[in-house]
Amino acid sequence: MRFDVISLFPDLFAAFTEQGVTGRAFQRGLAELVLWNPRDYTTDRHRTVDDRPYGGGPGMVMKPEPLAAAIGAARQAAPESRVVYLSPQGERFDQRQANQAAQWGGVILLAGRYEGIDERVVERYVDCEWSIGDYVVSGGEPAAIVVIDAITRLLPGVLGDAESAVQDSYMDGLLDSPHYTRPVEFAGLRVPEILASGDHQRIRRWRLQQALIRTRLRRPDLLAERELTGEERDLLNDYMRTLAEIR
Ligand SMILES: C[S@@+](CC[C@H](N)C(=O)[O-])C[C@H]1O[C@@H](n2cnc3c(N)ncnc32)[C@H](O)[C@@H]1O
Repeated sequence: MRFDVISLFPDLFAAFTEQGVTGRAFQRGLAELVLWNPRDYTTDRHRTVDDRPYGGGPGMVMKPEPLAAAIGAARQAAPESRVVYLSPQGERFDQRQANQAAQWGGVILLAGRYEGIDERVVERYVDCEWSIGDYVVSGGEPAAIVVIDAITRLLPGVLGDAESAVQDSYMDGLLDSPHYTRPVEFAGLRVPEILASGDHQRIRRWRLQQALIRTRLRRPDLLAERELTGEERDLLNDYMRTLAEIR
């Protein structure tokens, strides 16, 4: 999948494309990242990319012309891609959107800086806006990295079997179950015995029950949106009964 990012700070992406799961995906050509710096599309001597806001007030605003030219160049190189502005005012980017976007041919991510970008760029060139959460970061680059990572790990061949995304939180509307590795005892706590039993069916049911319990306790909103299978309902009811007995 192709990612194009329009950013005033392209160097921020170096470590991300060189290391870890995403680094491997880029090195193996499963994903491609092309960076476009709006400063390269300025026409004045000072290579100006920002200006004071109309109406006054603090901060600067990214000028429309270099952004429009950079978007135009990215679009020409990746005509199938959608243009997404990363913005705290956008639709919340979640696993569902990551899953959908992993089916797209590509995405052009527009990273703002300062107070943001001239609104006319959003109106004219942007297909949708994504937010990584209800807080403000200093620029769209960290948001772009979050989005690219979440999508890239879903692309075919990126994760090995051992790292498979299938059981990850949110993939099927539940949080993941807890994980353990050796040693069997650490800080006075033992690994749940069932995980060392070798009984794959019981382990699967235990993990599913743990995922259901966690989701119920930490994110009941997810359960409200999801229909449970008969087995899931039984596992959750078992737990609720045990809880009621303890009380
Ligand atoms: C300092 S922020 C500007 C925030 C803007 N004044 C506002 O309050 O909506 C600069 C840039 O960071 C990016 N950004 C900040 N928070 C973000 C978030 N939660 N999700 C996605 N992008 C964000 C956007 O690209 C934004 O243009």
